[in-house]
Amino acid sequence: MPRFDDSDIGADLTQTRSPRDARPSVGGITASDGTTLPIPADLHHGRRESEVVEVPATRSSISDASQYMHNLSLNPSMREKRGSRNSFGISLPIPRSPRPSRLSIVSGIDSAKAAVSRELLASQVQDMAKEKVAAAKNMAFAFDIDGVLAHGNQAILEAREVLKMLNGDNELGIKIPHILLTNGGGKTEEERCQQLTEILESPISVDQFIQSHTPMQALSEYYETVLVVGGEGFKCRGVAQNYGFKHVYTPKDVLAWDAEASPWRNFSDAERADAHPVDFKRVKFDAILVFADSRDYATDMQLIIDLLLSEDGYFGTRSKNPESGSIPIYFSQGDMVMPTQFKGPPRMTQGAFRIAIEAIYKAQTGTDLERVVYGKPELATYKYADEVLKAWMEQIHNENRLPQNVYMIGDNPASDIIGGNMYGWNTCLVRTGVFQGGPGENDPNSPASFGVFDNVLQAVQAVVRKELGKEFKFKWNEKINPVLHGGDSLSAVE
Ligand code: G3P
Ligand code: MG
Repeated sequence: MPRFDDSDIGADLTQTRSPRDARPSVGGITASDGTTLPIPADLHHGRRESEVVEVPATRSSISDASQYMHNLSLNPSMREKRGSRNSFGISLPIPRSPRPSRLSIVSGIDSAKAAVSRELLASQVQDMAKEKVAAAKNMAFAFDIDGVLAHGNQAILEAREVLKMLNGDNELGIKIPHILLTNGGGKTEEERCQQLTEILESPISVDQFIQSHTPMQALSEYYETVLVVGGEGFKCRGVAQNYGFKHVYTPKDVLAWDAEASPWRNFSDAERADAHPVDFKRVKFDAILVFADSRDYATDMQLIIDLLLSEDGYFGTRSKNPESGSIPIYFSQGDMVMPTQFKGPPRMTQGAFRIAIEAIYKAQTGTDLERVVYGKPELATYKYADEVLKAWMEQIHNENRLPQNVYMIGDNPASDIIGGNMYGWNTCLVRTGVFQGGPGENDPNSPASFGVFDNVLQAVQAVVRKELGKEFKFKWNEKINPVLHGGDSLSAVE
């Protein structure tokens, strides 16, 4: 059997060094910013005193992942004028109309009595400013959440002021239509709206809220037994059950059946207690649904690849033709990175996880993985958002129609902005999240059509001034008396 010897690889085992001796030196790889990245061979030169042996690599140091990736894996860009991430012809089912929620507007902000008297007063004010009212009902906002309204579970403070204003704290006392359109997920819509209501200090209704996986409820008409991946604990089981999937399993249920399925995982007793193990040799999975970020890449990748290569969706089997695809896989969104509270660059999210799966699949089968990716910037998500917006208009203004001037406010050019641009919405980019451009800069690949702003408050104020006039007041005045202050120039602010 052929084997390497020292002369084959050119290693000089008399030369040793310690990694701690590393210091920049001439040579190395030139990075995109022109700096030189030191590599071990450069750092090693002339140093003999440590215990490290540097053995030359036999394979190229350049990543070979691209040949394994699906050719539409990367985020689309306006430059490439790509119509859709999934432009190879697969359709994405979405619900025909939004499901009426069990929990409508989350209340608890205003007392009922105060709200009634304020509504009365506001309706009198609105009667006297009909043109402005029509314009206010003819505009709408679609807000991204992470990096625009919040960072995880911490509000971006300007967002509180924005929501108060849009909920009626303005000169007309009118609700300006707005929905929340996030690529986040991993918990039920009810739970996330409750959290957002608390941190943003304004009521967020399930009926104005779309998470990455919300439109995927339509898939429950196609599949009964699903492996749901991602999210905290077992929360995504509840999400999928709410959507109507009949048999919902998670990777942890599989581990509770046979922990050896993931060789490096320590499966805790607490996790086992909440798991639903069954004899997975007898379960035929219909589809894999990735609903949120994996909390355990090793286990989730292993089990996903197992099912993708299986015979008809049975764990523990191998298809005779794995390249022809076994069961379908759906990802709830495709963002590569997301903003977090980490004081450094944005962190990897579902898109990065997906690309790794695609690369592994291609390396094992030689073929591209067929998969569907929901979420912004996918057309299906924006179409569903329109349905939600229409239904929300009916709830707040009793008018089942779409406002003409919709503004997407986002922090991620590669999802929020390109998606909004392609859908014909106006777009605003903010600097509180993924986009880090400086003053005067827009994103070169997917520029925001309306502008770039420091934060959501600045963006919303600019939009409202454009649509409702430069003098529009962002405060409601409770002391206004429409009879005394009547006329076209009526303002609730004294
Ligand atoms: O990409 C992951 C998710 O956190 C993004 O959420 O609200 O920015 O679409 P959002
Ligand atoms: Mg965002």
